Amino acid sequence: MRYVGVLFCAGIACVIAAHGTVLAGEPGADELSGGRDLYVGHCAICHGLDGTGQGPLAQAMKIVPADLTQIAVKHAGEFPDAKVRDVIRNGGAVLGHGSTAMLPWGLYFSERRNPDLAKARIKALTEYIKSIQQGSAPGR
Ligand code: HEC
Repeated sequence: MRYVGVLFCAGIACVIAAHGTVLAGEPGADELSGGRDLYVGHCAICHGLDGTGQGPLAQAMKIVPADLTQIAVKHAGEFPDAKVRDVIRNGGAVLGHGSTAMLPWGLYFSERRNPDLAKARIKALTEYIKSIQQGSAPGR
């Protein structure tokens, strides 16, 4: 839990820093690089910079962060956009493992104050994750 606290503080600093620059544009304007920045700022600590689940925090976790480059492979080559958006928004409980080790990010990405912005952020992240799929066509 201590680690999660540190993570959230670091994350808030990133959001503030990134707010004016990366996220100011129209959703979709620079979706992929916006998604990458969000990913590096909020997700890489667990899922690793390359998405394979080897982030610095991974060792401290009981449930290993998922390898995000294999999502398409695990779904018979079809990247499940809606499911990935759901996990990002609502957390790991939607995986059906009953696990909440994957945090919900919807509210954190200002869903209440600015639902459009939160949606754009989650979409950008999903696009980014889609772009790093390995081992099969990402289903575009
Ligand atoms: C505190 C560590 C941590 C952080 C930070 C984190 N995740 Fe996760 N994530 C996990 C864990 C652990 C799982 C596996 C959960 C399970 O198996 O129940 C997971 C699972 C996922 C999955 C499901 C993968 C699959 O194969 O179905 C997606 C998608 C995902 N994370 C995306 C993200 C995104 C995007 C971010 C950044 C906004 C993020 N995660 C930040 C720990 C983290």
